[in-house]
Formats: sequence, C-alpha cells, structure tokens
Amino acid sequence: MRTKTSTAEHDSPRGGDPRRGGLQAAHSTGDTPANGTAEAVPYEGGPSSGTDSRRGGLQPALADAASCEVAPADAQGDEVFVAFRDAGFTYDGEQFVFRNLNLTVPQGQFLCLLGGNGSGKSTLAKHINALLVPDEGETLVFGCDTRDPEATYFIRSNAGLVFQNPDDQIVASLIENDVAFGPENLGIPNPELRERVTRALAEVGLQGFEEHETNALSGGQKQRVAIAGVLAMDPAILILDEATAMLDPRGRAGLMRVVRDLHAAGMTVVMITHYMEEAAAAERVVVLDGGEVRLDGTPQEVLTRASELRELSLEVPFACRLSLELQARGVPVGTCVTDEALKEELCALRSKQ
Ligand SMILES: Nc1ncnc2c1ncn2[C@@H]1O[C@H](COP(=O)(O)OP(=O)(O)OP(=O)(O)O)[C@@H](O)[C@H]1O
Ligand SMILES: [Mg+2]
Repeated sequence: MRTKTSTAEHDSPRGGDPRRGGLQAAHSTGDTPANGTAEAVPYEGGPSSGTDSRRGGLQPALADAASCEVAPADAQGDEVFVAFRDAGFTYDGEQFVFRNLNLTVPQGQFLCLLGGNGSGKSTLAKHINALLVPDEGETLVFGCDTRDPEATYFIRSNAGLVFQNPDDQIVASLIENDVAFGPENLGIPNPELRERVTRALAEVGLQGFEEHETNALSGGQKQRVAIAGVLAMDPAILILDEATAMLDPRGRAGLMRVVRDLHAAGMTVVMITHYMEEAAAAERVVVLDGGEVRLDGTPQEVLTRASELRELSLEVPFACRLSLELQARGVPVGTCVTDEALKEELCALRSKQ
C-alpha cells in the first residue's frame, strides 16, 4: 500500500510563508478608526458603498509569470476556469476517490456541489486550489496544469478556498492582520494592501473592524473574516467548502448574501453545501456520488428529482417537497425549488379563485 505524502496537501490555501500581517505601520495614515470604535452592527447584506468594482478577473501579471492559457469554453467566448479531464485521485494509492472525472466550470458561474458524506466534494475542492493534484488525467485551473510547480503560486493566488471551520483559517489575532495575511504574502505593498483589507472587510459587512481582536468574534463573524482574507487576495474564483455549516440561520443567510453579491459582481463561485436552500440559489448544481457526477443541471432540473436525491442521501428542498405534496392532493402548482417561487405560485392561484 502506498501512502502519499503530498506536501501541497499541507500547504496553506492562502499560500506563502507563514509571515503574519504587517499593517500596523499604516495606522499613522489615520484612515482606520481607533480600536473599539467600530459598531458591531448586524449584517444586512450586500457589499457596502465603495465596493462596486468588478470581481473575479485573473491577476494578469501572475498569469504571464505562469504562462498558462485559459481556453474559451463556448462560442460566446467565456473562459473555462476549471477543467477536470479524465481526472483520477487516490489518497492511499489503492482506493480512488474519483476516476475518469470530467467536469468544467466556466468563468463567472455559480456552481453548487452536493453529495453525501465521503462523496469526494472536499477532495475535488482541494484540486481546484492545487492543494491536491490528480494521479490520473489532469486538472486545469485557469488553463494551468495543477501539477506544474511553476503554476502553483498563480493558481493559489487566484483560487480562494474557504473551509468549514473559521478557527482553522484565522492566522492573526488582529482582524486587519489576518485579512492582510494572504495579499501580503503575494507581495502587495501599502497603500494597496490597506485598500484591499478595507474593501474586503466592507464586502463581508465588517467595515471598521480592522483593529478588533479575531478571538472576540462570533463564529459567523470569524467566517466572514476568513472570507475577507480570501477576497483581499483578489481571487478569480471563490471555493466555499461548507463555509456556512457552523453558522446559525441568520449567519448563513448573511453569508449567502455575500456570496450572491460577489457572484453578481462577476466572481466565479464553487460552493459545497448540505443545505438545499443554498443550492437553490446557485446557477448550476452538480451532485457527486462515489466521486462520480450523478446529476448536473440548473437547480430547477436537479433539485426537483426527489427520489434520486433521496437515493443519494440528499434532502429535497422544502419548497419542492411541499409542491409535490400539493400536486399529490390535486393542487395545480409547479414543482418549485425556492420558497419564493412557491409563494408566488400559490398567490397567483389564489388570485384566480
Ligand atoms: N486526508 C485523507 N486521507 C485519506 N483519505 C481521505 C482523506 N480525506 C478524505 N479521504 C477519503 O476520501 C473520500 C472523499 O472524502 P471527502 O472529504 O472528499 O468527501 P466529502 O464529500 O467532502 O465528505 P463530507 O460531506 O463528509 O465533507 C472519503 O472516503 C474519505 O474517507
Ligand atoms: Mg467535505
């Protein structure tokens, strides 16, 4: 039995050496509120004013350095950001997590990855960030082969990965230093470094929190700091591996708003979740089972296949379950995947009566 000791697997998804953030010197500019002055306001969603620039473009200087070629995905000229081509991966040299996997993610897509425990979602996510590389076939990210060591830096700095537990991702005791960690390791100098930190915190609704202690935050706030740390690296793609799993419903809804706003601003998003309501908000849903793509389509196409989802140990969205029950009792409603859609159908039905 072969045991793989991939050093990449143990690298930080935020890349670079473990230097800690270095923004203190910039305080002399006076553009940050004094410690403790920021209000812990509830997050109402949406990037704040001043964060209207487009998200999700590749950092061109880095692309040149890695000499990667991003392939057009279709006639419209959209680019393929991620391509698994007959990819196979095994942790132990015996059991393949996936094999002959073919999956592409075009630029700007909001893709949700579903699947039961152990179906290979996290393993796949780590391939997009080049934390893991395939044993068979290839994974191309932004046109770069993830096995090319010269491309690793480019891929990691453009593919931001957020994990489930924020405590595993916070690296500094001060929020601004934590958020600055990634871009600082990319060599971003001040004042751009400070601008990125300010913008990223605003995007996750934590404006003014620069000088707060990370250990004094709630789980939801910590997760937003972790996402801000990834956003400050200005990634082209955001990968969320059950990033909302530890949050309460309000925290989850807030994070979903952040993700939806980022996607609306152009970010490519790959989101792994066990919450069907979150999947319903994506553009495309892919269901993995035993490392194989079982279902692939729009939320309407995938999330309404109740019996197949149940067979794959997945839930059916509440709106879909209710639609099916209503249909079974003769109520003429379509099969809806979101509460809003079902509400509209029921209101329309009532107004006809
Ligand atoms: N570091 C590892 N070493 C060995 N095997 C692993 C490792 N990580 C995952 N596996 C195995 O690979 C398979 C896929 O695991 P993975 O974590 O990708 O699944 P997942 O779909 O993310 O599951 P979950 O929903 O529980 O997070 C499982 O059989 C798991 O036991
Ligand atoms: Mg997982």
